Amino acid sequence: MPSLTLRASAADPSTLDPEETWTRDHLESVQLERLRATLHHAYANVPLYKRKFDDAGVHPDDLHGLEDLAKFPFTTKEDLRSTYPFGMFAVPQDQIARIHASSGTTGQPTVVGYTAGDLGRWASLVARSLRASGVKAGWKVHNAYGYGLFTGGLGAHAGAERLGCTVIPISGGQTERQVQLIRDFEPDAILATPTYLLTILDAMAAAGIDPRSTSLKTGVLGAEPWTEGMRQELEGRMGFDACDIYGLSEVMGPGVAGECVESKDGSHVWEDHFRPEIIDPFTEKVLDDGAAGELVFTSLTKEALPIIRYRTHDLTRLLPGTARPGMRRMERITGRSDDMVIVRGVNLFPTQVEELALAIPALSPHFQLELTRPEGQRMDQLTINIEVRDGVAPADGAAAAKELQHQIKTHIGSTCTVRIVEQGSLVRSSGKLRRIYDLRPRA
Ligand code: DLL
Repeated sequence: MPSLTLRASAADPSTLDPEETWTRDHLESVQLERLRATLHHAYANVPLYKRKFDDAGVHPDDLHGLEDLAKFPFTTKEDLRSTYPFGMFAVPQDQIARIHASSGTTGQPTVVGYTAGDLGRWASLVARSLRASGVKAGWKVHNAYGYGLFTGGLGAHAGAERLGCTVIPISGGQTERQVQLIRDFEPDAILATPTYLLTILDAMAAAGIDPRSTSLKTGVLGAEPWTEGMRQELEGRMGFDACDIYGLSEVMGPGVAGECVESKDGSHVWEDHFRPEIIDPFTEKVLDDGAAGELVFTSLTKEALPIIRYRTHDLTRLLPGTARPGMRRMERITGRSDDMVIVRGVNLFPTQVEELALAIPALSPHFQLELTRPEGQRMDQLTINIEVRDGVAPADGAAAAKELQHQIKTHIGSTCTVRIVEQGSLVRSSGKLRRIYDLRPRA
């Protein structure tokens, strides 16, 4: 039979995109040109941008160098909400090929749109991210990110297809079935949130399957914060490579940044399409590379929804590129500023608890933070509910709880109670896991 090499058009996995090899100087000259075009496009076609630029007394022509970006106003989730549903679109509706939206747990959902060209660039950036993480053309890819308005499922799907993979579009949920299909279809890679992969691992254990015996060689995990400790947990239990993938719907979706398997040292931001900045979230001043703060993104090639200085609320640092020297890396996200728990004046993120808990052998990665204010008291109380690992005796569990409490006091400074709860009693993830339960009476 003649071989119809339908994959011939897919990227050759052994070669990088030319942009991945650009020097920093060349990259920045392209960024400047693209930034200028993006600012003009936004100003001319989105009334909200025109109004905000005019109010701030800046015009796209004021951009002479990349540093001039700091003169332009930020864009926030509120801006997207106030223009709900399509007010941020910069092209006529008949040029919008797809719409996605955030779940909108509070207030209006945020709606984003893509032209056919945007969808093509998105697919190629997810393909680039997957390839960087070790996924290869010809591999079978089990895609457990949720399909629908969430950008994870369809975004990862298109990228895996673009790379030349066979995609299994399972979406999230129906975990026993996922385990069955992993056995039957023998995928090489899995795309999921890290906590949903934990749920799949639990289901494998319940079915008597050794996770190390599956065909999976790589996990490309993201959509929620996770730690090095969690990487070690998942890699150790699965016997595979786990890499990070970052993105957000307002900026594109998955594939804004991706981690290289050879260095596993944080995600490289695909700076040919996005210009990142780190700001102090309080003073809003731009910080130098290496300083911790809030990540802000400006799109450089988006047509339907150009996004200027979008405040992500994600906290991280920008570091020099390694495996892709021209592009900067971002350190793992510590958390979102809105996920920061403040107890008695001390700030704490769930990722800090994850890192400390996973260093204690008796403790499992299943935990929740509960904030309460006991009757008649003015002080808030933080309780960490956590499950022990299989086979841990009650006395050892109690000692581990004490140890975690001590570690949190020593390393973070927070006073809290650690409570061992029954195995299997904490809600398991089917996508993005909620870690914080604020049970304080509403003021
Ligand atoms: O979560 C896009 C995505 C899908 C990324 C699949 C990776 C994989 P949103 O629903 O708009 O989009 O949520 C974006 O999720 O601002 C971060 O707070 C968080 N997030 C996404 N990726 C990571 C990551 C998708 N790798 C929000 N590490 C972002 C930490 C992440 N947090």
